[in-house]
Amino acid sequence: MRLNHLKPVCFLFVSFLFIHNVNAQELYKNAKAPVQKRVDDLLKRMTLKEKIMQLNQYTEGDNDNPNNIEKSVNELSPEIGSLIFSSSDPVFRNKIQKKAVEESRLGIPILFAFDVIHGYKTIYPIPLGQAASWNLELAKKASAIAAKESRLGGIEWTFSPMIDVAYDPRWGRVSEGYGEDPYTNAQFGVATILGYQGTQPYDSLHVAACLKHYIGYSRSEGGRDYVYTDISDQAIWETYMPPYIETVNAGAATVMSSFNDINGIPSTANVHWLKDVLRTQLGFSGLIVSDWYGIDQLKSQGVAKDDKEAAYKAFAAGTDVDMVDNLYGRHLEDLIKEKRITIAQIDEAVRRILKLKFELGLFEKPFVNILPYEKRFLLPEDIKTVEKYAEETMVLLKNKNQILPLVNAKKIALIGPFAKDNDHVMGSWRAFGKTKDVTPFYDGILKEFGDKVKFEYVRGCDFEGNDKSEFDAAYQAAISSDVVVLYLGEKSGWSGENASRSNLALPGIQEDLVKHLATAGKKIVLVLSSGRPVELARIEPLVDGIIAVWQPGTAGSAPLAGIISGRINPSGKLPITFPYSTGQIPIYYNHRQSARVYQGQYQDVQQGPLYPFAHGLSYTKYEYSDIKLSKDVINKTDKLIASVTVKNSGLRNGLETVHWFIRDPHASISRPVKELKYFEKKEVKSGETVTFTFEIDPMRDLSFPDSKGKRILESGEFQLKVADKEVKFVLN
Ligand code: NOJ
Repeated sequence: MRLNHLKPVCFLFVSFLFIHNVNAQELYKNAKAPVQKRVDDLLKRMTLKEKIMQLNQYTEGDNDNPNNIEKSVNELSPEIGSLIFSSSDPVFRNKIQKKAVEESRLGIPILFAFDVIHGYKTIYPIPLGQAASWNLELAKKASAIAAKESRLGGIEWTFSPMIDVAYDPRWGRVSEGYGEDPYTNAQFGVATILGYQGTQPYDSLHVAACLKHYIGYSRSEGGRDYVYTDISDQAIWETYMPPYIETVNAGAATVMSSFNDINGIPSTANVHWLKDVLRTQLGFSGLIVSDWYGIDQLKSQGVAKDDKEAAYKAFAAGTDVDMVDNLYGRHLEDLIKEKRITIAQIDEAVRRILKLKFELGLFEKPFVNILPYEKRFLLPEDIKTVEKYAEETMVLLKNKNQILPLVNAKKIALIGPFAKDNDHVMGSWRAFGKTKDVTPFYDGILKEFGDKVKFEYVRGCDFEGNDKSEFDAAYQAAISSDVVVLYLGEKSGWSGENASRSNLALPGIQEDLVKHLATAGKKIVLVLSSGRPVELARIEPLVDGIIAVWQPGTAGSAPLAGIISGRINPSGKLPITFPYSTGQIPIYYNHRQSARVYQGQYQDVQQGPLYPFAHGLSYTKYEYSDIKLSKDVINKTDKLIASVTVKNSGLRNGLETVHWFIRDPHASISRPVKELKYFEKKEVKSGETVTFTFEIDPMRDLSFPDSKGKRILESGEFQLKVADKEVKFVLN
């Protein structure tokens, strides 16, 4: 009786001791405690060595042989902070994680990272192509699929999106960003982050995003990769910074510093751009990671005499995590002893990675649930989404005499090295995308047309080289058909990292094939797959239709076939200028105003590009009304509503993107001839008239930055442009 009476008291006492014990000793393990408190608690328990391990990133995973997995796991330290994991085997990943949580002193889980750039297994179009869709909803959906597949494969951190505004299409990495316009990069960057990260807190199907490459990387001289960048502060603030401002505000978890230097100081060691600007001015509080060997490269870039100096410079500039070159691992301790850096600085960096791990739920759920392969990847509904995305990225560049769609052809000659390809259409950085999961165009078009049309396929030539032995067979196929569908382009390795080209033209053998086929006198539809704009000057006059499909990924075949048959009405528009000739580079729509508008052009080529920014045709006809404004004169705190109606006067339903450009013709710092400020894509059915509106916020849309990033809003006259319509208004 007496004992029973004491029971609740004892229970309370034991509970108190237990909770007290947990709180005093292992608060960081308490899922209910606030993240900041958990971080502080864990940090207090860590030795300097353990802290430094969190800042050193390793790599593992190129291991297809299950027999080697144990060996790989044994070789890894359990104290590792983060790992670039290039295997899609979650069992392997869990073994590494088990070692970390069970064998490391404090049981800190590893953060697994990978370059999931445009899909993990289900590959969707390259980012440059994505921008051609102008569909932010699809960008978000596709990146959510990538996030889900990543998590199920064992990855919690992707090094994406790349928001480097394209400048020189010889640079292979223009394929990885969203084209030449800062606003477009900002919008797609934000949509992508929202897709990857979901709404906070993270659930187990979302990943941390990484903005890259901060900053100015796309201005590498001459479009060569990894080289120097000479770039004004004004250009950084006007063109390269806006996507970072928007995506940081949208909550991007991490940022990667870029390989390039900025006027002599590499980004990875650049105190001004990392600390003063990114941390202080932009208020970014997430994790900053170097790029691959970016710290080591400070030596080749001429700012560090040895490894220790390189580690010092990167760390002092605010680079938290050292990607794979192990210089933090080898030198941070010495730098502390020498009092060149402080423990407080180390703690600040370690706090950031621990915080991310807590937020991602890694302490509670360090292991991946192993689902059957077919439940993890390439789900039918996901393929449907990426197929729709691929469809909207395709741009009808030319359609002479409405050659497309091919409604009357009875026999089609299908020619070109891409016709049966299931590899290069995935583009670079295809993560774990496999050729076996890609339907070649050949299969798609046969299915699309069924028995109604006969096809004759001849490859015609390889992607490159000099072998013309198939030219005659291709000619014969052309001559015996009603029309030729010719599928040419760039191999996937011709764009992406370390893949610059001095010339944007297709290799001579491909151009020669077009010229040879043109002599057959049949109409030719050129399909072009590429990771950048291509110089088409010599072949464009020889063909009647051109469809740019970029690198559409897993599911590009059916939508392309659908555009050719007419089942689908194309709706893509260019996010990057197609120059007439490579020598015109740099050529982009939002250039500054010239001193002499009608002079100074190259004498040997046409003035202007072959296809400008935002160009893209459709199978229907859109008629734009004049632009209507809610007022002609506004004050700086007013909002101005602009609207335009678009009438579909053709016979097909369609999706139309309206681009709103502003021009500020006179300002204290001259402004570009036009700047995109808003875009919207909507369905406009045949016979329907749809209204598109844009609410102009003067501070957001009419101001511009100075060379320190301060925004200036000046009174004066502005022009608003949509398609070929233009209207003026005044800001008081
Ligand atoms: C180097 C690339 O520049 C970067 O974009 C990528 O994320 C890292 N390598 C990691 O693979």
